[in-house]
Amino acid sequence: MAPAPFVAGVPLSTSVFKADIFKGKVLFCTGGGSGICRGMTEAMMKHGADAVILGRQINRLTKAAEELTKSTGRTCIPAQVDVREPKTLAAAVAKTIEQFGRIDYVICGAAGNFLSPISNLSENGFRTVIEIDTLGTYNTIKATLPHLRKSKGSYVHVSATLHYRATPYQVHVSAAKAAVDALSSVLAIEEGPHGVRSNVLAPGPVANTEGADRLSNKSNYLEMKQTLPLGRVGAIEDCANAGVFLFSDAAAFITGQTIVVDGGNEHLRTSYLPYPQAVLDPASIKDMIPAKL
Ligand code: HXC
Repeated sequence: MAPAPFVAGVPLSTSVFKADIFKGKVLFCTGGGSGICRGMTEAMMKHGADAVILGRQINRLTKAAEELTKSTGRTCIPAQVDVREPKTLAAAVAKTIEQFGRIDYVICGAAGNFLSPISNLSENGFRTVIEIDTLGTYNTIKATLPHLRKSKGSYVHVSATLHYRATPYQVHVSAAKAAVDALSSVLAIEEGPHGVRSNVLAPGPVANTEGADRLSNKSNYLEMKQTLPLGRVGAIEDCANAGVFLFSDAAAFITGQTIVVDGGNEHLRTSYLPYPQAVLDPASIKDMIPAKL
């Protein structure tokens, strides 16, 4: 009988960083209303930062901001934006400066996703994801960069690993995230002399996020768990801890890099979807394809 796989310990519940490392600093986080970006915001706030969380759904953001303020003792405010619209980001930056007077850290996390084979993907479907992920990242950088130059701040772009190898039904997201990765490294070398850093955080399979749960069913996750080197799928806290590190002075000499938070999955992965079954028999993965997000 094969030996039972090693199971890594649960994510750290107490931080290895000092509680006040981001005291007096301000985080601006697109996509911060839910999932990984919300978790990263909470971790930054637990280490002293105040925060603005941004997205399209103001009700969800308002509720999240109240909960984050309560759970961390810092101040979090919501701002409604569509990252495809520069004017909405300009208004959110103005609101941030009015409330907090500065921006030190930016998480570019707003993203769109759905599964679709190229053969069915409309031009507008492709454009929509490129505009949210890639143009949205560009727009967020443009809106915040003058403030980050002032504060000698830092960017973390939440990308993915699905574009490192071909992932069926993800051509739009793969193209968008590859462009985000390129954007971050160019930003890093252009803005380094101004004291601004830019890095990418690339989550692998992380449980309890809407995006991953939509793209993956439970049995897929259970199977995946057994093949991952660390014996479990990721937790939001794993990404949040990596984010705290990237923004902290411990990463002061790290820019233009990608941290992959995937428990070693990428070195073994063949596909996030069953292959070639997903391509030859699309009906067999019907449950993994949302009708409409
Ligand atoms: C095919 C679809 C579709 C689907 C939308 N479209 N959903 N095509 N299959 N399931 C097409 C539409 O038909 C339309 O094209 C175009 O996309 C725009 O759709 P809209 O609904 O009008 O756009 P919008 O309201 O802007 O919504 C965009 C969205 C949004 C991307 C569909 O719902 C969204 O952002 N939702 C997901 C948010 C999310 O899950 N974020 C987490 C990402 S996680 P036509 O031609 O009809 O006009 C992530 C990493 C996951 O990215 C990694 C997992 C391993």
